[in-house]
Amino acid sequence: PPAPLQDSWGRVHRSLRISVTDVCNIRCQYCMPETGVQFTAPDRLLSYDQIVRFVEVAAAAGIQKVRITGGEPLTRPGLEQLIARLAEIEGIQDIAMTTNGMLLPKQLPALVAAGLQRLNISLDTLSAETFKLISRRDGLQQVLEGIDAACQVPSLGLKINSLVLRDLNLQDVLELVRFARERSIVIRFIEFMPLDGGRTWSDARMVSGAELRELISTHVGALRPVGPRDLTQPAQEFEFENGPGRVGFIDSVSAPFCSGCDRLRLTAEGKLRNCLFGKEEWDVAPWLSTETFDAQQIRKLMQDCVRAKYQAHGIGTPGFTPPERAMYQIGG
Ligand code: GTP
Ligand code: 5AD
Ligand code: SF4
Repeated sequence: PPAPLQDSWGRVHRSLRISVTDVCNIRCQYCMPETGVQFTAPDRLLSYDQIVRFVEVAAAAGIQKVRITGGEPLTRPGLEQLIARLAEIEGIQDIAMTTNGMLLPKQLPALVAAGLQRLNISLDTLSAETFKLISRRDGLQQVLEGIDAACQVPSLGLKINSLVLRDLNLQDVLELVRFARERSIVIRFIEFMPLDGGRTWSDARMVSGAELRELISTHVGALRPVGPRDLTQPAQEFEFENGPGRVGFIDSVSAPFCSGCDRLRLTAEGKLRNCLFGKEEWDVAPWLSTETFDAQQIRKLMQDCVRAKYQAHGIGTPGFTPPERAMYQIGG
């Protein structure tokens, strides 16, 4: 069997995040610019056949988990067909998706039937007005309907992702925690990273996990960590001392999980990235069509990509510059 995908810091890569599109139906400030968004032409996206071919090679090299991301993945038609094919690949044990939830009510049954095991839905506020400020579109009601639909599938591992911007939704945090707790959903608060298309990131706009832990402990209930920190997971989860409910914190800026990172990324047009903040990309698209398929070339590009991985992202250190692409173009 091919050698596992180990980088020069000893991290073995088991997890692949596949962006299926950069298109999104909303325009969240922490991700997209307000105007001037240029989506990839549909004919430049990897086809499902090409994605499946890639994942077959990746699985043979030790990839066990895949997560479908975007843009908003559910804007790409027929996603259940892709999931069904990924679920059949030997070695793939976990199939997950990250979505804004708006298109879920219609699509969820087919996705679950196809083999989707876990779902993370973004929800940053319970106020329709604040939703519109953050995402520059209407849609809160649709998101809430998506969450309701997901709650009705007991087999689905469901989490809520919330990103807090100090000037927009800090006042919504306690309500969000209570909302998730009532529904027995894990809610995770994500630190704002410099990956927004509008380049408005600043230390002042970001709210740290430590600040939110303090806020939640004071107003909802004392928190204690659940188990030791697993550094292949971005979140440290906490439970309430006063009853059920879990809150996670993705402190990617103040306490990065880089030392345990086992992630590779495939962009919607077929470029491999070893890090959200990486400056380099490895183009596997040329080797993925029926006529040109070359597993050996793809394996080599994966190895090159993994070997070039930096030790850590270095946000906040001198000389740090954000990547050229914004979050929606990389895959969340
Ligand atoms: P599971 O832990 O498998 O449920 O998935 P996940 O939490 O990795 O997936 P999700 O897409 O929900 O990621 C949540 C957030 O974690 C993202 O929106 C990012 O803010 C952050 N994140 C995900 N991957 C990385 C990464 O490789 N590096 C950093 N710094 N942050 C990441
Ligand atoms: N920093 C951190 N997380 C981000 N996301 C989008 N943009 C950023 C950013 N700049 C997250 C959202 C969502 C997922 C798709 O990506 O919170 O959960
Ligand atoms: Fe790893 Fe890069 Fe993610 Fe840090 S930001 S955890 S180095 S992939």
